[in-house]
Amino acid sequence: MKLVIRYAVLAALLVAATVFVIPPFAASFIEQWSERDIESRSLLAFNSALDEFTALLEQKDSAKIAALFERMALDERLLAVGFCDDQGRLLYATKMMPKRFTCAQAILKNTPGFSDWESGRQRLIVSSFPVVAHDARGHVILINDFSFAERRSAQARVWAVVVLIGIAALAAGLVGAAAILLGRHWLHSFRHAVDQVRLGRGDMIDMAETAPFGPEFRRLLRELQFGNQPVEGPDVEWSPAMLRHVLAKKLPGAQVIVVSNREPYIHNRNGDDIVMQRPASGLVAALEPIMRACGGTWVAHGSGSADRAMVDRFDRIGVPPGEPSYVLRRVWLSDEEQNGYYYGFANEGLWPLCHMVFVRPQFRESDWAQYKLVNARYAQVIASEAKGPDPIILVQDYHFALLPGLLRAKLPRATIITFWHIPWPNPEMFGICPWKEEILASLLGSSVIGFHTRFHCNNFLDTVDRFMEARNDRERSIITFGGCESLVRSYPISIEWPPAATAGQRPIAECRAAVRERLGLAEHVRLGVGIERFDYTKGILDRLRAIDAFLCDHPEWKSKLVFMQVAAPTRSKLAIYSALQQEAAALVREINARHGSASYQPIMLIVRHYEPAEIFEVFRAADFCIVSSLHDGMNLVAKEFVAARDDMQGVLLLSQFAGASRELPEALIVNPYDIRSMAEALEQALLMPEAEQRERMRLMRDIVRLRNVYRWAGQMLLDAADLRTRSRIMQMVSRQEPSRRLVAMRSQVG
Ligand code: F6P
Repeated sequence: MKLVIRYAVLAALLVAATVFVIPPFAASFIEQWSERDIESRSLLAFNSALDEFTALLEQKDSAKIAALFERMALDERLLAVGFCDDQGRLLYATKMMPKRFTCAQAILKNTPGFSDWESGRQRLIVSSFPVVAHDARGHVILINDFSFAERRSAQARVWAVVVLIGIAALAAGLVGAAAILLGRHWLHSFRHAVDQVRLGRGDMIDMAETAPFGPEFRRLLRELQFGNQPVEGPDVEWSPAMLRHVLAKKLPGAQVIVVSNREPYIHNRNGDDIVMQRPASGLVAALEPIMRACGGTWVAHGSGSADRAMVDRFDRIGVPPGEPSYVLRRVWLSDEEQNGYYYGFANEGLWPLCHMVFVRPQFRESDWAQYKLVNARYAQVIASEAKGPDPIILVQDYHFALLPGLLRAKLPRATIITFWHIPWPNPEMFGICPWKEEILASLLGSSVIGFHTRFHCNNFLDTVDRFMEARNDRERSIITFGGCESLVRSYPISIEWPPAATAGQRPIAECRAAVRERLGLAEHVRLGVGIERFDYTKGILDRLRAIDAFLCDHPEWKSKLVFMQVAAPTRSKLAIYSALQQEAAALVREINARHGSASYQPIMLIVRHYEPAEIFEVFRAADFCIVSSLHDGMNLVAKEFVAARDDMQGVLLLSQFAGASRELPEALIVNPYDIRSMAEALEQALLMPEAEQRERMRLMRDIVRLRNVYRWAGQMLLDAADLRTRSRIMQMVSRQEPSRRLVAMRSQVG
């Protein structure tokens, strides 16, 4: 109310100022203009009578002069006309000449002159024009009545006030109407935002809708949605908004930097065009929604052929394209670096070492040198991206085992969360790595070391126990090494919920019809799918053999079952990957020859990258999905299949060696090395009643919904926040005198 009164007073002052300033200004303008008007009219009247008057003056014809003057004075603004001789005597004058007029009131000089004269209450303008006749000279005097100008300016003043009031009223009306409409719109947006929050859908609120209310309003909404709701515990509903809330509440102002080898958006040249691609990577699928929610910087290798053309002079680009919410900082690598660091040490050394699928790891000195070099380059780039001394750095995966230690040296106060996306082997296995101590020492520079499962955490703790002089607090799962504490915890990674790829998906029946039509399958044919990178750890050959075994045992299923394997080529430069592709193609040919016919091919192998929307469509069209990894950190394909099935149908066959099997026990858990039992699980899947499918799928969907990727990131950030608080307390305490330390510690307890 006070605000309204304040605005009303301000508006009244403005109106008053306008009313008191503009009308007098208009009046004085009209007076000046009238004066000039009188002067030019007088000159005109004088000039038109000059010849006649000069002749009459020479003739000294007073009667005619008087008549001429009376004619001139017929003009309503002309009061009187007269003639002053050069002695200053008024020789001729019309009848209306004021009695008090004397020639002294006029300016008598050789050029026309004008002067103001007040006669009684009347304002007069005296014009004088020099005249030279044969033997007489003097000035014709025109006395103008100025009162008309005063009447005119008074009228102008009134009109100005009226017009101004009209304009003000119109403007006020328009502004008022606009304010009412805007107010209604804002009220609607406000009510909608609050309703969304009330329904627990705060993250569905359109940012543009709340933009007029500013960031403070959004903060309030977040508080309204989450209030004092605990951010920890099993009942927390994790969402992008909840994640932002955790960041704002627990880590206010913290800068988040993610580093991974694979970038979330790749720009490639296609002829003259540049096309954008999303890589086939579980890591990217998981982290991208997190970065969209939190903002920050993602540092990654610029691997696309058009990547350089798309960045600014700092090698940065805002992503996602069209609605940038975070920065992608690209790092360039030479072929030599890429061969040694990525293909060599990371993918021929650490990858088989950690996956334990009986592929011998290759450890080459030259690869290790490149790996060290590239990790050091990334450390430099990250330090240059840090805006303060204590950013939160999320180091992703086995490509950067040396990064935590390098970063700790450059940014001692940073919170470094290292997440190892692949399995961690037992100490015997890890022990074969020639540079195990250097790798472990660097990893122990992390504040938090995360794995998907507790099993991998235990393997890591055992490995450190075996090879490092470190304090290993098993109870708290904290390792102290070189004065640095590292928390070792499991954070099962997941997908966003609901996944972006589900938006715009057609109903299940339409997806089934579309995919079947594309593959040329009849309606009654049962469809199984497998979609992943073409990697030897995924157990693709094993599942094909299981289908072969199943069809051998159950020939009645021939022509009624098709398995579609989509495999995205990956790391094809490495011999083992190209060999796998050839072996798989040969096996498919063999199986199809054994069980197929001219019109029936039981296995369809599609070797190409599928975009998320295509993957989800295929998942929605399938009757079952096989994830038969020989060993896998988590495997998000399993979770994506579950997320795609909002019809609660479809069966998931899941390897017991994929981390996902710990969270999804309602899948048909299989041992991919045991072909016979996989074939049996396949039969179970094909015969599973709809009700059972529904029950299993419902339980799995609940898990994937609740344990989504926001929870994965949120729990790491919550742990990071606790560590930061603890380290601040420790710093504060260590700076104080021993006697004051006790007081400070007591206050912390209080
Ligand atoms: O599983 C390990 C991993 O790095 C994943 O995080 C990712 O999905 C996959 O490998 C990608 O491999 P690359 O980047 O070599 O294609």
